[in-house]
Amino acid sequence: MTITLRDEVQSRKTFAIISHPDAGKTTLTEKLLLFGGAIRDAGTVKARKTGKYATSDWMEIEKQRGISVTSSVMQFDYSGFRVNILDTPGHQDFSEDTYRTLMAVDSAVMIVDSAKGIEDQTIKLFKVCRMRGIPIFTFINKMDRQGKAPLELLAELEEVLGIESYPMNWPIGMGKDFVGIYDRFNNRIEQFKTEGKDRFLSLDEEGELATDHELKDSPLYEQTLEEIMLLSEAGNQFSEERIAKGELTPVFFGSALTTFGVQTFLDAYLKFAPTPQPREASSGEVDPISKDFSGFIFKIQANMNPKHRDRIAFLRICSGKFERGMSVFLSRTGKPINLSSSTGFLADDRNTVNEAVSGDIIGLYDTGNYQIGDTITTSKDMYQFERLPQFTPELFVRVSAKNVMKQKHFHKGIHQLVQEGAIQLFKTVKMEEYFLGAVGQLQFEVFEHRMKNEYNVDVIMERIGSKITRWVEDEKVDENLHSSRSILVKDRYDKYAFLFENEFALRWFNDKNPDVKLYNPMDLR
Ligand code: G4P
Repeated sequence: MTITLRDEVQSRKTFAIISHPDAGKTTLTEKLLLFGGAIRDAGTVKARKTGKYATSDWMEIEKQRGISVTSSVMQFDYSGFRVNILDTPGHQDFSEDTYRTLMAVDSAVMIVDSAKGIEDQTIKLFKVCRMRGIPIFTFINKMDRQGKAPLELLAELEEVLGIESYPMNWPIGMGKDFVGIYDRFNNRIEQFKTEGKDRFLSLDEEGELATDHELKDSPLYEQTLEEIMLLSEAGNQFSEERIAKGELTPVFFGSALTTFGVQTFLDAYLKFAPTPQPREASSGEVDPISKDFSGFIFKIQANMNPKHRDRIAFLRICSGKFERGMSVFLSRTGKPINLSSSTGFLADDRNTVNEAVSGDIIGLYDTGNYQIGDTITTSKDMYQFERLPQFTPELFVRVSAKNVMKQKHFHKGIHQLVQEGAIQLFKTVKMEEYFLGAVGQLQFEVFEHRMKNEYNVDVIMERIGSKITRWVEDEKVDENLHSSRSILVKDRYDKYAFLFENEFALRWFNDKNPDVKLYNPMDLR
């Protein structure tokens, strides 16, 4: 039987896991990879996070901090599907990178710590998923510990996030008394402490245990049946259509650490998560099964392997089939490019990819051709996919090289790191000083560290604090409008912007200069 492009694309499931730090993202990812046979040892992903493992050579700072600074991509095959997991850093300072990653996925898995409920970082990430209308699957983790009551957690989902939920399964007890899950979807009970075939107990048509079992005498079982009845009568209806629109989230309970409920979750997730869908582009919708190849770059990372000093552009394929050595156009410039060097992302290794289809993420070795948001395609129309969100930096430093003799390295480093999109560069119009803008303080620390380690330049960074950035709509601006409270700068695309001292300075400026039209890119979304 020949495998068509359609078959291949329909086997792709590409998602990101979103959560607040410590909810269990690393642990769950690892367990999923184990099921897929992509890693052999539990601890591989965790070790990368905590720096016990050589793969973390990727970025020295990840080891020092014990945090995942950059999103990585992991791929595995399971049950006829090819699964791409895009990891997102949990640390809030890296939200730009995380947000862009969410543009490259077709669905998201949200992990909630059962004791903590919905936390800040989850709210932010959830909003981006919501904005894109992608389906969200919820995994409520750590049921082996005492946490909030399950009904309370559902209420939080609805009240804090404003999304309706449908529990696919329901916990029977928790913490020390955790018995397992009542699986509404598969009509069975999955027992926490029982391995092998006895792990699953079937339910009859009334939803009660089909055979005699000691569990029948447990008050926890009684309570579960009552809660299930309540959910059936007063809860939301299951709707595949509403899941696909991101209006209803299927909820799964489990414990990633003890690998409980993880496979049940994965099987249901793969059944209902969407395969790659058509994407909006400047020329209309692009069908993932179209024969023209296309994709967009959502991330650029320099020096992933310090031994090779390479730069990798991460491409999300949106249509057609990638074949190594193919020629494509870079839509922004119209320039033809030969894609001869590419890399796939297996769990703990990188390998050369020869073929990939819509939904897959591949890494392209970059010699400075690409920018974040670039579209590449074999189509002569050279359309562009919708712009990736640009973020308004809030924190600023003035940056210069400590040693003036190192100017060349300084410029090279700064331009490469800025092109990765983790940090934004501005030049003051009057003095030609360099300012860096970021969403969080940690980005400056990573910048400083990488300038030293990868470009051998010590930098001086003077804090100039938080500012309100507003871009100028017009191409021209009166440079005399520059003042210490409204600093006039140009971004790396030579677009004018003002950095205002505070809200008051912004309002004052608007009053005095009604003709200067300012905008905040975050408002345009
Ligand atoms: P993150 O990537 O979302 O930041 O979370 P991570 O998986 O690293 O998990 C955070 C902590 O929560 C870890 O403990 C992890 O072992 C624990 N954890 C994850 N899933 C479960 C679960 O289902 N049940 C319980 N009881 N704990 C869970 P740690 O003490 O920070 O690290 P470690 O001692 O395990 O290395």
